[in-house]
This record gives sequence, C-alpha cells and structure tokens, in this order.
Amino acid sequence: MYQATSVIELRQYVQHWKDHGQSIAFIPTMGNLHAGHMSLIEKGQSLSDRTICSIFVNPMQFGPNEDWDHYPRSLEADLAQLEAIGCDLVYLPTASELYPDGLDKISQVQVTDLTEHYEGAHRPGHFTGVATVVLKLFNIVRPDVSVFGKKDYQQYRVISKMVEDFNLEVQIIGQETTRDDSGLATSSRNQYLDAAQKKTAAGIYRQLQQTAASIDQGERDFNTLEQDAINNLGAAGFNTDYFKICNAETLLPATSEDRDLVILVTAALGQTRLLDNIEISLW
Ligand code: PAF
Repeated sequence: MYQATSVIELRQYVQHWKDHGQSIAFIPTMGNLHAGHMSLIEKGQSLSDRTICSIFVNPMQFGPNEDWDHYPRSLEADLAQLEAIGCDLVYLPTASELYPDGLDKISQVQVTDLTEHYEGAHRPGHFTGVATVVLKLFNIVRPDVSVFGKKDYQQYRVISKMVEDFNLEVQIIGQETTRDDSGLATSSRNQYLDAAQKKTAAGIYRQLQQTAASIDQGERDFNTLEQDAINNLGAAGFNTDYFKICNAETLLPATSEDRDLVILVTAALGQTRLLDNIEISLW
C-alpha cells in the first residue's frame, strides 16, 4: 500500500493511474477504522480499479465543546487493516497543508438546505466542517466514485447535495450500515458501552424495524408513531434526542404522499449518543 502525506505526492499517484485509464474510488475517514469502514473500502474496490482511503481527524467539524484532542487515534492498527484489505493508497494529509492559514481564514461550504435539523441542530457548524473538508479532498484526489456510510445518513445526504449543487464529477455511493448479530450498528462509539448497555443498545434498531413495519402496513399517523417510539425507547432506558420519520431525500418531515422515507434516530444510553436509521420504500 502506498502512503502520501502531501497534495503533490498524492496527485502523482492519482495522475499515474489516470494516465493508465484506471478509475479511482475514494473513502474519506477520520481513522479508528472498524468493520463499517472496511465495508466502504470493499465497496470502493468493487466499483473501481484503484481505492484510496484518507485518514484525517478534521478539526473544522468539531465544536468548541467537542473533544478533537481526545478523538481516538489508532494509526498503526488502521494502516494494518487497510494493508490487509488491499487498499492501494492511504492519504494522510496534514492540517497545516489543508488549512495553511488556520480554520478562520478558509472558505466554507454550507449545504444550507439539509443541515439545519437533527445532527446539524445538535452540532452547529459540524456539517460545514464536513462539507468543506470533503470538497477539498475531492478536489485533491479527483475520484470517480466516493463511498459514504448510510449509518451517518444526514452526512451522506449533505455530501450528495453538495455534489449536485456544485456539479462535481464524482459519483456518491451510500453503503448499507454494518450491524452486529443483535442489530446494533457498528460505530466507534460502541466501545464506550458496557455489556449491559450493549444489550440494551440493540433495541434502537428493533424500534426502527417496528415503526418501519407499521408504516409498511399502511399506518400514516407519523406523529403518533414517533411519539410511541420515543416512549418505548424511554421505557428501555434510552434518552431520545429525536426519532423522526422523514422524506429520504430532503429530510423534511414525511408526508403521506412520500414514497421514499427514512427514520432518523439519535438516542443516548448513559453518556453515549447512538445514531441509527432505517430506509423505507413504499413503491
Ligand atoms: O464520517 C467521517 O468520518 C467524516 O465526517 C468525514 C466524512 C471523513 C469527513 O471528515
């Protein structure tokens, strides 16, 4: 596996591959890689000749009260996993190259439409940080496809919208969420759950499935479904931030006319905030 830390180095590899007619898949990450990330890499590999993964803990997407300093970093283990899976190149940008004049001086990408609610409301500025770094990385790597986990469904939609809005020549692929046998979505935050909490945590996906089944069977009183779900999750020990039935594309509250829906949920168990979602197609 090749490694590049500077833009110039990275572009030399990419140019060489492009000169040989090879297509490129790109998977941006913040490291601390797990099975979910590996499924993104595998998807990229299935769609292209060369796969590039970046690891960069992007300071711009962390709020003032969020712990950028303490975000788990595990470079050695990450590189070993990427090597084992056959990733072609890992890009390890430096903050000084991506943000040479600091975070205050950099232009910002605001995907206005989709970032007001849910994680955007909980983490002001977060999606601007994500969109800005991803646009920079797209322009540096110039991939044909880029794979994002649907576990972070709002992020996946924000990136897709940015690509549409700015006519970027990259195809965005949403990869299905990796789950353990209990249904719990793979996440680096799962490591903060104790054994009992882990068992409870699986209930979040069971609730999503239950609400999705009711909608599938024709229930259209979304407010009641949402309230019932919040009550059930509360009884199981969750503190629910939001449980919202949305239009899968716009993320606006779903109407009975909508055919492609997604239920977005964020619920905390103790100090750990868990995100999950389920898509529903009513065609
Ligand atoms: O999902 C992530 O890990 C990050 O938000 C991303 C897309 C790599 C941007 O920093």
